[in-house]
Amino acid sequence: MYSDKVIDHFTNPRNVGEIEGANGVGQVGNAKCGDIMRISLVVEEDIIKDIKFKTFGCGAAVATSSMVTEMVKGKTLEEALKVTNSTVAEALGGLPETKLHCSNLAADAVHDAIKNYLEKTKV
Ligand code: FES
Repeated sequence: MYSDKVIDHFTNPRNVGEIEGANGVGQVGNAKCGDIMRISLVVEEDIIKDIKFKTFGCGAAVATSSMVTEMVKGKTLEEALKVTNSTVAEALGGLPETKLHCSNLAADAVHDAIKNYLEKTKV
């Protein structure tokens, strides 16, 4: 039912936690199930230097959170904003139809954290 990549990211999630002194924080809830994902970022000169997540949700939500942190770490904000829910699901080798809604959290939380960073640094 789940791809090997989904199982790998669920059982061994990357970049878990919260960054102290993060300069961008985003949090989104999934309207379908009430699960929550929180992302903290350190951005320096337009590059995502560090990123961590905390997800209170199902296995697919944890796997997509983990995957999205790997996809955007070291990327520019512009590149990170191009990552979508479906590119995250694709990178994981797909998700079962009934769990596709779980991937909604990942990219949205990253975008929310970037928005928070941009608002804070606006002059
Ligand atoms: Fe809520 Fe998967 S069931 S994110």
